[in-house]
Amino acid sequence: MKTVLVVYWSMSGNTELMAKKISEGADADLFTIDEISPEEALKYDKIAFGCPSMGDEFEEGEEFYQWYQNLEYQLDGKKIAIFGSYGWGSGEWMEDWEERLEEAGYDLFEEALMVNEAPGPQEEEDCFNFGKRFKDY
Ligand SMILES: Cc1cc2nc3c(=O)[nH]c(=O)nc-3n(C[C@H](O)[C@H](O)[C@H](O)COP(=O)(O)O)c2cc1C
Repeated sequence: MKTVLVVYWSMSGNTELMAKKISEGADADLFTIDEISPEEALKYDKIAFGCPSMGDEFEEGEEFYQWYQNLEYQLDGKKIAIFGSYGWGSGEWMEDWEERLEEAGYDLFEEALMVNEAPGPQEEEDCFNFGKRFKDY
């Protein structure tokens, strides 16, 4: 088991590519939400969560939210990073997610990392570097 976990849900592969690059940069274990239980995820001290925008509200990413809500109230003492791909607008779902974490007083790493649709070469590098910084956080 590595020290950092990257766990994500992705419908069409864009957030998945972000997750892969972040996990490379962070030298992290990488799982989809179908591959790891919330209980297992809570064994890591640093967790990067990835979910694309499926609406303006974070909860609208239902598949991810159903998994995530089991551990959302247990993140005290964890270092948390969040990321995801979106299609349009200015990332309202991510602001919503950041606010939930901040209101709960959790230790959120940097600003959420967002990419419009599929990451290009520069964005892949940004994801890698985000992971690298998170590892050292
Ligand atoms: C059902 C559905 C709802 C979506 N709602 C939004 C939205 O409200 N805002 C937005 O910016 N993108 C929205 N998108 C676009 C996705 O966030 C975007 O295509 C993203 O790259 C998908 O990431 P993924 O490949 O990791 O699934 C929606 C896509 C789907 C399929």
